Amino acid sequence: MDKIISFDNVNGILTSEAGCVLENLSKLVENEGFIMPLDLGAKGSCHIGGNISTNAGGLRFIRYGSLHGSVLGLEVVLADGTILDMLTTLRKDNTGYDLKHLFIGSEGSLGVVTKISVLTPAKLPSTNVAFLSCNDYKSCQKLLLAARRSLGEILSAFEFMDHHCIDLAMRHLEGVHNPLPASPYKFYVLIETTGSDESYDKTKLEAFLLRSMEDGLVADGVIAQDISQASNFWRIREGISEASVKVGAVYKYDLSIPVEKLYDIVEEMRCRLGDSAEVLGYGHLGDGNLHLNIVSSKYDDNTLGRIEPFVYEWTSAQRGSISAEHGLGLMKAEKIHYSKSPEAVQLMASIKKLLDPNWILNPYKVLPQSVL
Ligand code: LAC
Ligand code: ZN
Repeated sequence: MDKIISFDNVNGILTSEAGCVLENLSKLVENEGFIMPLDLGAKGSCHIGGNISTNAGGLRFIRYGSLHGSVLGLEVVLADGTILDMLTTLRKDNTGYDLKHLFIGSEGSLGVVTKISVLTPAKLPSTNVAFLSCNDYKSCQKLLLAARRSLGEILSAFEFMDHHCIDLAMRHLEGVHNPLPASPYKFYVLIETTGSDESYDKTKLEAFLLRSMEDGLVADGVIAQDISQASNFWRIREGISEASVKVGAVYKYDLSIPVEKLYDIVEEMRCRLGDSAEVLGYGHLGDGNLHLNIVSSKYDDNTLGRIEPFVYEWTSAQRGSISAEHGLGLMKAEKIHYSKSPEAVQLMASIKKLLDPNWILNPYKVLPQSVL
């Protein structure tokens, strides 16, 4: 199922089968002057059908939003074999319930996505990437607001990493170097702008950077001067997950937390774990999405007992999400109640029973056994 069905290069609408690799689709639409609204570190191997089934977020979310907005149509095969044709390419369609949304983010538990159509934005000619450092978390937070205000419509990524992530990336990723090696800063931010006017966009970013330094929000910073520098910046950010796996064991949490509280959990976790593990905080700050990764040489129940259920209880107390963009899968199915009310989980169970009464689609995932 890896065929392109069509690309409408007037409206920027891609229609394909679900097994196409994201990066191949990106190349195809870029050749036509458009871009995929979704980009993520795993682009070279992940399939668009899986991206949609899991409602993957990724690096362009801040600019282009969720797949609930970009996906225009789907073809889905239901548990009883019915082929549900919702493969339209309309922007607006308020005829009844918008059923495709049931299959975006339900992780294959209600049906198998087989064909997709996606709205792709126009590819803009000028992209700039800056790699900045901040001395404290509060500055990162203020910088985000300042970037929203000053860079406005050209802001296309605002990614965040603490220095533990940078150290790890330098230790484990080949061919990358720290763009700001002079001092050991506490936090790093990658800002990307994408716009339609090369000189205006660059001037705007430079002025923003200068002002942020004068205001004391940014300790140091550099704007990529060519594609290879820009890809080094991105490689560091995108490679953190890959680098963390090389340590041995990784306990991964993917949390949505109000930005002002987002780093508190990282610090609290460090206090709880002491020297027994290294705690990494990074993620899509512009979306309020923290990747909390705890790495150690091997898995042990004692460490896990200090992390869970604390991490879930803490997130729940902030009314955050225990899975911002990665889904619940098998490991977190039983934890859904930390983010959803009993009534909401019951309604999900009713939908599951209606669409998959014999529980043959991705069993044991997404919903707790107890409600089915
Ligand atoms: C990332 C993946 C882990 O943002 O979602 O790097
Ligand atoms: Zn992510």
